[in-house]
Amino acid sequence: MVETAARKPIGIFDSGVGGLTVVKEVCKKLPHENIIYLGDTARVPYGTRSAQTVQKYAISNTDFLLTQDIKLLVIACNTASAVATGTLKNKYGLPIIDVVRPGARAAVEASRTKRIGIIGTDGTILSGAYQKEIKRLEPDSTIFTQACPLFVPLAEAGWYEQDDEVVMLTARRYLGPLVESGIDTLVLGCTHYPILKEAIQAVMGPGIRLIDSAEATACDVMQMLDRQHILNDAAVPGTSTFFVTDIPHRFAETGSRFLGRAFSDVSVIDIVQL
Ligand code: DGL
Repeated sequence: MVETAARKPIGIFDSGVGGLTVVKEVCKKLPHENIIYLGDTARVPYGTRSAQTVQKYAISNTDFLLTQDIKLLVIACNTASAVATGTLKNKYGLPIIDVVRPGARAAVEASRTKRIGIIGTDGTILSGAYQKEIKRLEPDSTIFTQACPLFVPLAEAGWYEQDDEVVMLTARRYLGPLVESGIDTLVLGCTHYPILKEAIQAVMGPGIRLIDSAEATACDVMQMLDRQHILNDAAVPGTSTFFVTDIPHRFAETGSRFLGRAFSDVSVIDIVQL
């Protein structure tokens, strides 16, 4: 029975392409796992919506992934992780990994001065989820936050290079106060932001440690699968299957940058029907 469960895929969802940064890390760490990814491109962005709406979207995304017989769910969206993890854990009986807890833990482990910055969508920052988790792990920490909503369309447009004037101007405007705050660690609290890592590092300076929650999340996925004895032990490499709720070709084009390799086979599902 454990043998069969181990061969099932991991389900991963995000509002769009951002969660592919998590897929990339999971594939790197767990190359034998099969992945079913859902990008909710018809309803992106999540970061500007209410918690109730994002919870509703997270439920329909999970309902779809469950039709694919997944063994574990990864909420590869910080906004959905921040406002819907509790809802999903209460509703479903399968193991669920969010991106906020691993990101917060990695930040606390990395920080020497306990002065930690968090950047994310409006929804993530306003939810207070990272702030609460970091304080739970390190009550003496001092936390600085900044919502960076324009980073998402910049990353999606492919404007993320360090030599791009618009990127650097936007990054300086958002990150200036964080540079002044004396933090030593900055959490990239949105799955789109790892794409902009070099520009963010250039503005923050070399002394600031950037925490990519995708890497920390992949570690948690591995530990959870190991604990439940459902690591896929197949000898062949795992497969990744992509679903979206709208415009598959744009997802494939933009997503290739996030995933770090080209792909084209993307299916559309009508999630509203579920
Ligand atoms: N990828 C989402 C996150 O990690 C942000 C994009 C959105 O606003 O939908 O929060």
